Amino acid sequence: MEHIEDAQFDGIDPNASPFQSVDSNTTPRTEFSSPSSPFPKVIIPTDCRSLARQKLARLTLEEKVSLLTAADFWRTKSIPSKGIPAIKTSDGPNGARGGIFVGGTKAALFPCGISLAATWNKDLLYTVGQHLAEETKARSANVLLAPTVCMHRHPLGGRNFESFSEDPLLTGKLASKYIQGIQSKGVAATIKHFVANEQETHRLTIDSVMMERPLRELYLRPFEIAIREANPWAVMSSYNLVNGVHADMNAHTLKDILREEWGYDGTVMSDWGGVNSTVESIRAGCDVEFPYSSKWRFEKALKAIEEGRLTIKDIDIAAENVLTLVERTKGNDMSAEEAEREDDREETRKLIREVGAEGITLLKNEGQVLPLNANTTKVAVIGPNANRAIAGGGGSASLNPYYNTLPLDSIRVTAKQEVLYAQGCHIHKWLPVASPFCTDKSGAQGVTIEWFSGDKFHGDVVVTQRRINTDLFLWDSAPLAQLGPEWSAIATTYVTPTATGKHTVSFMSVGPGKLYVNGKLALDLWDWTEEGEAMFDGSIDYMVDIEMQAGKPVELRIEMTNELRPVAKQKVFNMTHKYGGCRIGFKEEDQVDYLQQAVDAAREADVAVVIVGLDAEWESEGYDRKTMDLPSDGSQDRLIEAIVKANSRTIVVNQSGSPVTMPWADKVPAIVQAWYQGQEAGNALADVLFGLRNPSGKLPATFPRRLEDTPAYHNWPGENLRVMYGEGLYIGYRHYDRKSIPPLFPFGHGLSYTTFEYGRPSLSRKLMTGSAPIHLIMAVTNTGSVAGSETVQIYVRDDKSRLPRPEKELVAFEKVLLGPEETKHIIVPLDKYAVGYYDDSLPGWIAEEGTFKVLIGASATDIR
Ligand code: BGC
Repeated sequence: MEHIEDAQFDGIDPNASPFQSVDSNTTPRTEFSSPSSPFPKVIIPTDCRSLARQKLARLTLEEKVSLLTAADFWRTKSIPSKGIPAIKTSDGPNGARGGIFVGGTKAALFPCGISLAATWNKDLLYTVGQHLAEETKARSANVLLAPTVCMHRHPLGGRNFESFSEDPLLTGKLASKYIQGIQSKGVAATIKHFVANEQETHRLTIDSVMMERPLRELYLRPFEIAIREANPWAVMSSYNLVNGVHADMNAHTLKDILREEWGYDGTVMSDWGGVNSTVESIRAGCDVEFPYSSKWRFEKALKAIEEGRLTIKDIDIAAENVLTLVERTKGNDMSAEEAEREDDREETRKLIREVGAEGITLLKNEGQVLPLNANTTKVAVIGPNANRAIAGGGGSASLNPYYNTLPLDSIRVTAKQEVLYAQGCHIHKWLPVASPFCTDKSGAQGVTIEWFSGDKFHGDVVVTQRRINTDLFLWDSAPLAQLGPEWSAIATTYVTPTATGKHTVSFMSVGPGKLYVNGKLALDLWDWTEEGEAMFDGSIDYMVDIEMQAGKPVELRIEMTNELRPVAKQKVFNMTHKYGGCRIGFKEEDQVDYLQQAVDAAREADVAVVIVGLDAEWESEGYDRKTMDLPSDGSQDRLIEAIVKANSRTIVVNQSGSPVTMPWADKVPAIVQAWYQGQEAGNALADVLFGLRNPSGKLPATFPRRLEDTPAYHNWPGENLRVMYGEGLYIGYRHYDRKSIPPLFPFGHGLSYTTFEYGRPSLSRKLMTGSAPIHLIMAVTNTGSVAGSETVQIYVRDDKSRLPRPEKELVAFEKVLLGPEETKHIIVPLDKYAVGYYDDSLPGWIAEEGTFKVLIGASATDIR
């Protein structure tokens, strides 16, 4: 069973769709709107539920059932004769990617989830939501598949970067604003993945096993907050099982809690390929299955009705929910779907730069090494991430950005003195994509693909395409409408090296594949068996060294088909062909001593800025990280150690979406956590390094010293497809508090270029009752000479309770912007939710009588 779970789109054959779906497989036409054109106003109809009910009453049973599975990869089914349009969904949490997974329409790339969370700025997240909605519309979509609110249970979680935090309150509050922003523009938000989806390892089949209390207090809590405060119009169920039952058919979470307790009135959609039954899933309340599949619904649902296993009422409930989403986003609009548009606006660029800078978290700044003086400081910019676009993590949160800004370029633009540069080391997980060295048959950048119908390369070429990227991820973008369900293809590209040497070409393949170099077979993956991580269902990366001459093109030709590999899978899935695809990598032979070059640069400069971290290959949907150490094989740690020896004024900038081990943390004077910041990554970083922006980010997740110190260490990533959430309530700071383990940097920590003083707090009353909140009032003063923002964190400790509780829990936070020497008062209401916990013996939430301490701090360990 080892690799079978990755085959998530089991049963999907877009060509077999009985529905008239829009052809989503063509590369979208691109149109531009002028940067100054105003965002159009939206009017959202209010009574969508009753409009949906009226439409439902006019549908036949078949029509109702047809609504319960998607029409294609991204759209719901339309029923034009009854005035029901299709609606289109688009990933994802840090930008609206549109209908093509890799290399689609260009889009605005925002900072990733944890970077947004590091701003602790609710208003800013509202604005981000509004801009994301406009981007969604530019992709002709109505539903954004975001936000991701899964908890950071373990630092190695592959998707931590795209979700917010280890704390449910911070996550829930920020997600609420983000959702309100999106929906204020008439676009639906889809909060995901409901629920207990904290790891990627075996994500389709893993059973998350936990007690009811942590489920309620940690994992459901962000959803609960967001549903109460922002009413997201859609919820996406997760792939995993929760206490033995798949999330899409889990009556406890979907029905008892979501619908009945919380009174949720929106629409539940499955994760892509995440439906696991016909009857149970519909009855539990998974209204619509994505993408189209013939495996569980339509005919099977009709049969279940015939046999009395499903009732018409079951179908009506689900279909009405789907129609409600259609009403909320598109109503009666039957006009044809427009082509996707680019909408690269000045105001969105500015916002992304601002949000990026505000998320940057200054972890350490001894001797005020930062900010740098642009006029006088000679900077050496060093590191594997310095001259690359590390803009986001991998998987469905990734997209094709309008542009990238690289740290080195942005630093060069800002600095007035000479800027030196050295790469320092390599960190690639797979060989870099060959694209920058490649031209297609016409001589333009890219690769030519010639497609044949059937998997035997017979007959004429049916479709010829040019693609820019040699990551030929064809999951959702093979021209199936023209080819039919089985295809073969020849991809041809010419690699021109810049230097003479023994260079390396790499090749991974989803189906059978062969790589020919100048006509000679070089890598034969026709019957590969060893599965890799890079592409859903792909092989590992195979490599071949080739002698090449500078400037002389070498032909790479790939033959591939979409037959399922390894062949064993054909039996398991009862299908022979799926989506196919391949990835071509290329790297020139190293001809310099990278480390020495970097040391020389550091010696020559006043300050060394070492930009290290992870990237979209190391941190991605689809798999978890294997280690908390910086990749690869210690190369970055060695680099930092060597640089700080050469220049004691060394600033380490780490780009990652989750914590990394920092064995050098005590040796370097300054550390900046820069996350993944989207298309403005370089500019936002330069703004903070040179003090054009005062950093105010605070960690949404604890940075532990060692992996062995972390809460779920003994229970990760589970065994025999079960993972025990054995640490119970104690994730993140709740764990470090309880075990008195000092983390490297605590939850909520983040420095500024100024200093803040907290005044004496006072409470409006000392006695809290069920209906009246207590107000906490406190002065905050900027005691420095530059403007800055401080996030005050309010935790509560229960002095005595019937059930054990964490030492303290975050119950509120407030961010204030203060000019030099300015004082402002924060007023924070604390109500019964701030003191309550879940008691499963009742069962229910309870606010016990007793005394509670209010702890006010600048981080989880800096309680003032
Ligand atoms: C991911 C979702 C995503 C969907 C569509 C799934 O694999 O888990 O987050 O929205 O694909 O791309």
